Amino acid sequence: MPSFKIAVIGGDGIGPEVIDQAVRVLEVATSKANASFTWNKLPWSAINYEKTGVMVPDDGWDLLKKHDAIFLGAVGHPSVSDHIPVHGLLLPMRRMFDQYVNLRPSYLYAGVDSPLRDKAPGSIDILFFRENTEGEYAPIGGRLYTGFPEEIAIQTNTFTRKGCERIIRAAFNAARNRPRKKVTSITKSNAQTFGMVLWDECFKRVASEFKDVNASSLLVDAAAMDLVRKPEHFDVIVASNLFGDILTDLAAIVTGTIGLASSGNINPDRTFPSMFEPVHGSAPDIAGKGMANPMAAVLSGALMLEHLGLKDAANNVNQAVAKVLKAGAPRTPDLGGKASTKEITDAILAAL
Ligand code: NAD
Ligand code: IPM
Ligand code: MN
Repeated sequence: MPSFKIAVIGGDGIGPEVIDQAVRVLEVATSKANASFTWNKLPWSAINYEKTGVMVPDDGWDLLKKHDAIFLGAVGHPSVSDHIPVHGLLLPMRRMFDQYVNLRPSYLYAGVDSPLRDKAPGSIDILFFRENTEGEYAPIGGRLYTGFPEEIAIQTNTFTRKGCERIIRAAFNAARNRPRKKVTSITKSNAQTFGMVLWDECFKRVASEFKDVNASSLLVDAAAMDLVRKPEHFDVIVASNLFGDILTDLAAIVTGTIGLASSGNINPDRTFPSMFEPVHGSAPDIAGKGMANPMAAVLSGALMLEHLGLKDAANNVNQAVAKVLKAGAPRTPDLGGKASTKEITDAILAAL
């Protein structure tokens, strides 16, 4: 029986609420697939930092490396500066574990209304490849004359040929296996004339290796418009770290709710564990109310199953979620219903 060790970091706010429920679903899905998961729950969170002064313990990174994957809810709490969980855990993990592919599907499910008029189920089906280790998120820069009128802040975008080419190549490889075989690269190379011009050059070079895939480039402002004007047009999108972050929240709402947006932070070379988490954050506005949609976490769990080679189990979970959505009820408030996080999970389990 294949067995896997999963590190579970529920985090803050709705993070643990949705992750605990997603673990229930994954338990059933894996046991049906004759696989076994052991879950190693870690308390790392912003609120835990407030109590202990520690975000990740000294041996934390070595501990994580001993797992087959990491399942994360969300980190961030209103009483703690976001700098602590974001720069103490989330972004260092993506970089140190070389999780350079941030895979984020956006799909309009049957039974879910897009806020855009007349969109048929399945008509919006986008797979985002967000660069996840450099770009606008590189922690390079500094502050000078802090507190003085002459105060300076410098934040340096970092684009490397290796970094651009590998995320672009990953996007083309995925597009090759999708029916429409189309990749759109999104930059702002008319304004950001160093890093993003390098990106564009890398895109052209990698595209030339994939003659069977249709390649095009779009500036991010036009892309934001087209994601609303004609989202059906997009198949695979490859974008920089920051643009990928922004556009995946936009695509999430265009396909109904952020409560369905899943993601994998993937190290394709498998030199370190990959991390799976919903696109959404800790949602302090609804935390503790038991009303968060757990489906984004469940679907992120399905991405984890797929990454671990449990393709049938992943398909079963995806289909169970699709079935509950198609049925029209129960639904959490983000989808217009009144059901709780647990009631939705019970329905997914029944569908499984
Ligand atoms: P958010 O995603 O937490 O919330 C945005 C809006 O979406 C809120 O109205 C929230 O109620 C709603 N929402 C989010 N998830 C939902 C769900 N599953 N079901 C129903 N509604 C849902 O973004 P934010 O408010 O900008 O950030 C809150 C905190 O989370 C901040 O500290 C931020 O830094 C952090 N954050 C963490 C991660 C992560 O850990 N990966 C991701 C995004 C934001
Ligand atoms: C996400 C989040 C993070 C990001 C934040 C919390 C730094 O918004 O995972 O989408 O921007 O990557
Ligand atoms: Mn985000």
